[in-house]
Amino acid sequence: MQTRCIAFFLLLLFQAGNAANFIINLAGNWDFSSSNESINGVGTVPGDIYSDLYAAGIIDDPLFGENHLNLKWIAEDDWTYSRTFMLSELEDSAAVFLDIESLDTVATVYVNDQKVLHTRNQFLPNQANVTDLVINGLNYIMIYFKSPVKYAARKAGQYLVTLMTETTGNAPIFRQLLATNSPLTVIQTYITETVIRISLGHWHVEFEFETFHYGARTIEYIVMIPELFIRESDIFLLSANKRMQSKSRNKLAFKIPMPMEPKRWWPNGMGEQKTYDVIVSMGSQVKQKKIGFKTVELVQDFIEKSKPAKGRNFYFKVNGEPVFLKGTNWIPVSMFPSNNTNLARMKFLLDSVAEVGMNVVRVWGGGFYETDEFYDYATKKGILVWQVSLV
Ligand SMILES: *[C@@H]1O[C@H](CO)[C@@H](O)[C@H](O)[C@H]1NC(C)=O
Ligand SMILES: *[C@@H]1O[C@H](CO)[C@@H](O)[C@H](O)[C@H]1NC(C)=O
Ligand SMILES: *[C@@H]1O[C@H](CO)[C@@H](O)[C@H](O)[C@H]1NC(C)=O
Repeated sequence: MQTRCIAFFLLLLFQAGNAANFIINLAGNWDFSSSNESINGVGTVPGDIYSDLYAAGIIDDPLFGENHLNLKWIAEDDWTYSRTFMLSELEDSAAVFLDIESLDTVATVYVNDQKVLHTRNQFLPNQANVTDLVINGLNYIMIYFKSPVKYAARKAGQYLVTLMTETTGNAPIFRQLLATNSPLTVIQTYITETVIRISLGHWHVEFEFETFHYGARTIEYIVMIPELFIRESDIFLLSANKRMQSKSRNKLAFKIPMPMEPKRWWPNGMGEQKTYDVIVSMGSQVKQKKIGFKTVELVQDFIEKSKPAKGRNFYFKVNGEPVFLKGTNWIPVSMFPSNNTNLARMKFLLDSVAEVGMNVVRVWGGGFYETDEFYDYATKKGILVWQVSLV
């Protein structure tokens, strides 16, 4: 447990008409306070308690010298973040959902003083149906962060063996959105996975979509790769049997025949980093991303077939060529992920990785999943990513 993140979306689904998607972002100013309310102020979301206390002049720079040693009390206290938000036109809405991501870590969320969810995992997204809790007019949201240090110590006490429970840091960082939407439209689409592989002389491309929708509906996804003259579409029936609000996963898979063979993406130092624009659309929603075509193979054959005792190889082939991996370990750029200087720093570091001739970074599992910008930029620079799973 290090820094704490919070992010959320409140999704309002309108019953009437084909209303455009509304997303009301709750980012901005939030009130924060310690458990006994002796320390309080106005913080920034997305953000974290250390940055907010520092900005409010309550603590010294947590990143300077050994200041952090005097700041352990922050992680030992519980913290509350709250704000009000205005809703109008609620009478037309079918349902209201709150989407929260990256709550770090032991947190309970209240809307108009009613508990709506509790989480203990920063890396899982949360959703809550708050239809019956919100009102036309001013609403109140509050997030209560329990001290992760105390929580971990209490949990450790429940085991027979002694567990190390020293944790550092604590408190909220938010990325959040408040949204309104028509039930006739799908509200959120995520491209969760792109699988590209070559088999039987074809490139096999597979997109997986995650669709957050209200009620049963039929939708059409279209995938285009203009540079390769590709336009594929499919129609999906999304069922609503799981209750009103659902998340559906669907796959659209197709083949690219060899006459249209795309250019390969190569790691830094082995060739060009060719990528193609992919445009995915569903109704009026359009998402664009870049993909590169490559094959990756882990080779573990015997060093000498006749003498297995000599052991095996362990290396990767990219596009059929053995790659000597030259890389480094990647940890979060800052303890405080929402610090807006991080993006420039990330680019500077990946530029440096490429300039010294490296071709891979291993993303440490003790940090957090990096941003889309990070993975896209690594692709652009020819850097392979060895991603350690966090959950
Ligand atoms: C209130 O909390 C602060 C910060 O944790 C602590 O320093 C202070 O002693 C507490 N005050 C009381 C009266 O408990
Ligand atoms: C944000 O980043 C800047 C530049 O690296 C640094 O000086 C500052 O201390 C950071 N603040 C926090 C709270 O991380
Ligand atoms: C959300 O709450 C509304 C109002 O109680 C209810 O009609 C609807 O079925 C709920 N949806 C889900 C997914 O729980």
